[in-house]
Amino acid sequence: MKKTVESYFKTIADFPTEGILFRDVTSVLGDADGFKLAIDEMLGAIDGEAIDVIIGIEARGFMFAPVLAYTLGKPFVPVRKAGKLPRETVSATYALEYGEASIEMHADAISPGDRVLIVDDLIATGGTAKAAANMVEELGGKVASFLFLAELTYLDGREVLGDYKVHSIVEF
Ligand code: PRP
Ligand code: ADE
Repeated sequence: MKKTVESYFKTIADFPTEGILFRDVTSVLGDADGFKLAIDEMLGAIDGEAIDVIIGIEARGFMFAPVLAYTLGKPFVPVRKAGKLPRETVSATYALEYGEASIEMHADAISPGDRVLIVDDLIATGGTAKAAANMVEELGGKVASFLFLAELTYLDGREVLGDYKVHSIVEF
C-alpha cells in the first residue's frame, strides 16, 4: 500500500518543553520517498495558482520553499530570524506555541503587486505565518496563499489567517 506523507513524520512527546507533541519533519526529509511525496503533494496543492515570489520561513520553511521555487522557476525569498539579513529589512514580532520571536525580510524582496506564496513546514498557532503576511503586505505584495506541509488543527492557526487561502498536506 502507498505510504502517506503523515506516516513519514515521527512524533516526540514533551519536546522542546513538557506537554508539547513535537511533529518532526526531519524524518520526512530523511527518507527519499517521503521527501519526494511531500514535495509532489505541495506542488499539487498550488497547481494553477498565479505566483510571482515564493517565501520560506527560517528554518524549516527553507527545507521546502527553495525546492518549490526551483521547480516552478520562481524567485525564493528567505524570511529570517531577526538580525541575520544584511540589508534594509522589515520585521514582525509574534508569539509561538512555545516562546516568542521576531522575523525579518529584505525590504526590496517584494515589489508592489507581487503575488506571494508563503511556505513553512508547519502551522501551529499561526503567529509566524501571520507575521510573514504582515511583512509582505507592508511591502505592497499580495498573499496568494499559504502552503504548509503540516497543520496542528487543535491550535486553530487557520483562524488567525482569516480569509487567506491556506493549504496543508497533513493534519495532526
Ligand atoms: C516552527 C515551525 C513554524 C512555526 C509555527 O518554527 O517551523 O515556523 O514554528 O508556529 P506558529 O504557527 O505557532 O507560529 P520555530 O519557530 O520553532 O523555528 P525553527 O523553524 O527554526 O525550528
Ligand atoms: N512548531 C510549533 N509547534 C510544533 C510542534 N508541535 N511540532 C513541530 N513543530 C512545531
